[in-house]
Amino acid sequence: MNIPDDAFYALLNEALQQRTDETLQRTLYHALRQAILEGKLQPQCRLPGSRAIAQRLHLSRNTVNAALEQLATEGFLLRDRQGSQVATLPQAATSTTGSQPAIGLSPHLNLLPPGTRRDSPTLAFTPGMPAVNYFPLPLWRRLLDRVLREEGSMLLGYGDSAGEPSLRVAIARHLALSRGISCDASQIVITEGAREGLNLCTQLLSERGQHAWLEDPGYFGARSAFIAAGLAYCGLPVDEEGMHFQTNDVPAPRLIFTSPSHQFPLGTLMSAPRRLALLESARQAKAWIIEDDYDSEFRYSGVPIPAMLGMVPDAPVVYLGTFSKTLFPSLRIGFMVMPKALAASVQPAIESLLRGGHRAEQRALALFIEEGHYARHLASMRRLYRKRQIQLRAALKQELTVPHQISAGEGGMHLTVKIAGINDGAVVDLARQYQMAPAALSRFYLDPARGETGLVLGYGNTSASGFAAGIRVLNRLIAQTRPGQE
Ligand SMILES: Cc1ncc(COP(=O)(O)O)c(C=O)c1O
Repeated sequence: MNIPDDAFYALLNEALQQRTDETLQRTLYHALRQAILEGKLQPQCRLPGSRAIAQRLHLSRNTVNAALEQLATEGFLLRDRQGSQVATLPQAATSTTGSQPAIGLSPHLNLLPPGTRRDSPTLAFTPGMPAVNYFPLPLWRRLLDRVLREEGSMLLGYGDSAGEPSLRVAIARHLALSRGISCDASQIVITEGAREGLNLCTQLLSERGQHAWLEDPGYFGARSAFIAAGLAYCGLPVDEEGMHFQTNDVPAPRLIFTSPSHQFPLGTLMSAPRRLALLESARQAKAWIIEDDYDSEFRYSGVPIPAMLGMVPDAPVVYLGTFSKTLFPSLRIGFMVMPKALAASVQPAIESLLRGGHRAEQRALALFIEEGHYARHLASMRRLYRKRQIQLRAALKQELTVPHQISAGEGGMHLTVKIAGINDGAVVDLARQYQMAPAALSRFYLDPARGETGLVLGYGNTSASGFAAGIRVLNRLIAQTRPGQE
């Protein structure tokens, strides 16, 4: 051995004395393994025989042999008739410097926008948070129970990569009725929220270095997906008709992200001429439009606006839907709908990239939709949110004393209030102390310093009884944090 016998046994004895709930065999194994990795026992050094080790350590020979055998199986020792010899391991494995592995994140990840904290569904005015306390939990529990009882362990294996067929059929039926989209289950892929749909579209349809258009101000998630995939992106302004583009000003895109039914965060509805022009631009550029339809189920005036996907034949559009706003965010179920030819082409990639899971939840959701509970819940939430929006407008009129302008807002679960010249970032940071989590409008711009300022006030999760007091506090915070104010 490269160390004296006494030192060798002292090392093992110390480990045995410090043993807590491990077996003797495991303790001996760990002590020898560590001594080899730390270089205390060097390559090719021969260990004493198992009988000698057993005697010196007062262990049974079986215990010692089992530990040595395990080390031999893992390649730390070579065993032969003469006994055990330490194997030669690559230098790096036995280095004792203890240096941390180099992290080496992809450099473009530094460009990701900051994540948004959504740690409590109860913080008032949180944008995008539905009234989770109105979700029919007992019914949901019964449906989950029924699915598990009826299908049992059959549901515990992997599912279809594109998601449970029964859920895809139910979604196709729902979309035909509510969004004017005529599709079948083969065109739908269930995703972990719209967010995964967005990442998947980017992965499937674009290559590093290509260009993407997105709305400015707009949804952070689109920027994150494009940056993570190494795309170059340019922000297009949003006016009262939606995303505003002059095709000769900007590089031809491969992907175009838009939320035409209820632009996030400004709330505008993209006009029909703008939609048709965008479809034409996409066609000419051989680009795909990613249509984010995150909360369009909640429209409070006029008839529902059909999706872009169903607007013209063969529209180059992938539609993203989510149940985060209509049911509850932690469900993490969304879906993408593709034109038939695209769906057929990406099927092998979907099978290679995804593994079907969360089968019980998906089956329960299919029942929830097919048995009419979804339509009922939507109708009742639509009534609730419509009322809350009217009440929030009233509270703003009464309590917000600074000049302001409410941006669009015929639907959804938030109102965006433009308030010029305020430090909206400071207001929303301070608002957390008062259990409120509105968002700062300027932070949704690619360059917040050049964006409009204001507050994005979610009312989905906030009871109207708290509106007036909440707006009063925000009004005070706006005054306190006015630029130039101490
Ligand atoms: C504009 C917009 N689109 C899409 C999403 C995606 O939601 P999810 O991934 O929860 O389905 C959100 C969520 O906040 C959103 O605000």
